[in-house]
Amino acid sequence: VVILLVTPRVEKALEWRELLAARLPGVELRVWPEVGDAAQVEIALAWKAPPGVLASLPSLRLICSLGMGVDHLLDDATVPRDVPIARLVDPNMVAQMSEYVLYAVLHFHRRFDVYDRFQREQRWEELPLPDTAKRRVGILGLGTIGTECARRLLALGFDVAGWSRSSRTVAGVETFAGPGGLDAFLGRCDILVSVLPLTSATAGIVNEAALARLPEGASFVNVARGGLVVEADLLAALDSGRLAGAMLDVTQAEPLPVQHPLWRHPRVRITPHIAGLTNPPTAVGPIVENLLRLRDGLPLLHLVERARGY
Ligand SMILES: NC(=O)c1ccc[n+]([C@@H]2O[C@H](COP(=O)([O-])OP(=O)(O)OC[C@H]3O[C@@H](n4cnc5c(N)ncnc54)[C@H](OP(=O)(O)O)[C@@H]3O)[C@@H](O)[C@H]2O)c1
Repeated sequence: VVILLVTPRVEKALEWRELLAARLPGVELRVWPEVGDAAQVEIALAWKAPPGVLASLPSLRLICSLGMGVDHLLDDATVPRDVPIARLVDPNMVAQMSEYVLYAVLHFHRRFDVYDRFQREQRWEELPLPDTAKRRVGILGLGTIGTECARRLLALGFDVAGWSRSSRTVAGVETFAGPGGLDAFLGRCDILVSVLPLTSATAGIVNEAALARLPEGASFVNVARGGLVVEADLLAALDSGRLAGAMLDVTQAEPLPVQHPLWRHPRVRITPHIAGLTNPPTAVGPIVENLLRLRDGLPLLHLVERARGY
């Protein structure tokens, strides 16, 4: 079997090759752009593959995403439609994402956003004590990451709700589903956390109408994809004070352009898409498991459903 690693970050591909070689003796591992005989490649492990590369592999049987999101593959019209795509699900990455979300929620819950401003003004002033049990946190996207975030927030004592496409049951979490459940969900989010995949159904979902549904003075955290947010609407909600603050790990354009108003907005915190970084030493296990399943003819894990877009 020949596996091709395709990522613009060749140093990452070399790290992957070393980790995979130790677990898959007898498998030939090639690193793009050294494709060799393209007809021999049966499996591609890809992150942001340059358009056309995957389409040039006529014997491809499986594409494994080297990140948890698969929008990088589904947005590329040249990626063959008949080849299954498996996404990466690494518990280590889920834990990283949850840590970021906990930090962000506690930041707004304990008003560190306001205390940061107070410090800049040398202002020694106490705000009213926050009540954790009454702080309503809402998770947009109650999937692998969203569910783990919800569990950890529950453990801290927050009042947690979640919204998903299909109905979900998570012990202790108030759940809402589908477009019909969105307004009621948003209406009870003092802190809204977005962990939705970016699809044609979710693009721009955090827009003026959605932000207007949030309680006055709510905060917003986005660790999913920048395309979920209409940034002009977000800026307007922040400027009007309707929205108290936002912590954004992802933006429409990445890197965020130097002149972008989000960089300097006093109510916005930006991080450079680091909420959950693919960590090859822990991510290699789940990927190898799927490759062995393919070899043994077993059902593959975490397959993407193209029709729903994730
Ligand atoms: N910033 C970072 O560093 C970073 C790192 C990793 C991942 N991410 C992002 O996080 C996203 C989520 O990852 P995950 O592993 O949690 O995904 P997942 O397990 O596939 O969960 C996705 C959740 O979103 C819900 N959903 C999808 N489309 C929807 C729609 N149209 N309406 C309502 N709900 C919808 C799903 O509903 P159902 O439960 O009904 O299926 C599910 O609950 C990834 O797609 C990726 O973009 C970002």
